[in-house]
Amino acid sequence: MKETATDFQKTKELNDKYVLDLVNRYPIAFRYGVNELLFDQNNKQYIDFLSGVAVTNLGHSDPDIIEAIRLQIDKLMHTSNWFYSEEATKLAEILIQNSFPGKVFLCNSGTEATEAAFKLVRAYAEQKHIADPIIISLQKSFHGRSVSGISLTGQKKMHTGFGRLLDGIEFVNPNSEDELVAAFERYAGRVVAFIAEPILGESGIIPLTHGYLNLARELTAENEALLVLDEIQTGFGRTGTLFAFETLGFSPDVMTLAKGLGSGFPIGAMIVAEKYESVLAKGTHGTTFGGNHLGAMIAYETIRIIQTRDILSNVNSCSDIAFSRLRQLQQNLKIIKEVRGKGLHIGIEVSVPARPIAEKCLEKGLIVNATGDTVIRIMPPLTISSKYLNDGLDILEGVLSEFQREQK
Ligand SMILES: Cc1ncc(COP(=O)(O)O)c(C=O)c1O
Repeated sequence: MKETATDFQKTKELNDKYVLDLVNRYPIAFRYGVNELLFDQNNKQYIDFLSGVAVTNLGHSDPDIIEAIRLQIDKLMHTSNWFYSEEATKLAEILIQNSFPGKVFLCNSGTEATEAAFKLVRAYAEQKHIADPIIISLQKSFHGRSVSGISLTGQKKMHTGFGRLLDGIEFVNPNSEDELVAAFERYAGRVVAFIAEPILGESGIIPLTHGYLNLARELTAENEALLVLDEIQTGFGRTGTLFAFETLGFSPDVMTLAKGLGSGFPIGAMIVAEKYESVLAKGTHGTTFGGNHLGAMIAYETIRIIQTRDILSNVNSCSDIAFSRLRQLQQNLKIIKEVRGKGLHIGIEVSVPARPIAEKCLEKGLIVNATGDTVIRIMPPLTISSKYLNDGLDILEGVLSEFQREQK
């Protein structure tokens, strides 16, 4: 059924009347999607360079995901994690087989994975009898919206308005090796964890260097502190490998996951390395929905598809196309200050506010995200075709050229 602009007006009116006003929404409501394309209530087509913020990595309406959902809802959606579950067990097994030896806790979102990691780190500090433990986190990081999430997040704008945050968290600048060494020295004997995203996503795609992460690994090992990698955004193929840490030559002690894990179904996970798998004792943490049969089945199928369809080679070939076109564009347009990232996790730093650029792209049928005030973030589905990747880049190029002309 074809809907009209009035349908959107009605949706907007109901939203404004009944939904808490917490987000600066774009004036569109999508009705359906097919792989890299989304269609709004007027059937206008958009190329999706956002993937629901790095969530629908396999695109929209993947037939195998739909089939897995159908089969599973016919059988069972939810019981309780008080019972064993074939689906949750299979998911835990495939996660460990493809990351590092250890054990998995399943939850429902990235924030809950962060919370689990935070509790694990606090429990570790108690077990080591450290009275004033310190967690080192990064300025500009993002780890979620709960109180532990915002406490670990290195962005002042998220810290205010909620009273006292959790203490014992110190922030250092990303990629400053001197600051990291100094923090470990200043809090010698007290540092229990270092937490970081391998590429800082929300504040504008800031990749941590290999050298910096190596140093973090060395310092955490020397100080018996946990290296916690937040791969909630970088995980599941976004950067060209299943997990971003794989290219580093070492693994973290704790890894948090969500977003792309569920292909759109809300699910999160924390993986804990063997050495620390007893830190959280029985009964000290839990969840009602985490690891339910349906979510676990979808996540298992998501990983299986990434592997069997060789999605990563598509990520790498599309990444080459995107980076070479964007770097070429940078030569021609002064408003582009930098193009950075890895795989299909790409940031374009511009010298003007990014939001109007994202809005103009949307008018022209391309969904991109403005983040960190002056960064256009590109995260298309990992299954995007080179045709739609190039079509989307054409739109972006046109819009950036318009904004460049306005600067003169
Ligand atoms: C790196 C990172 N950590 C944590 C989160 C929080 O995840 P969620 O929104 O699923 O709670 C996000 C979400 O954007 C994220 O990008």
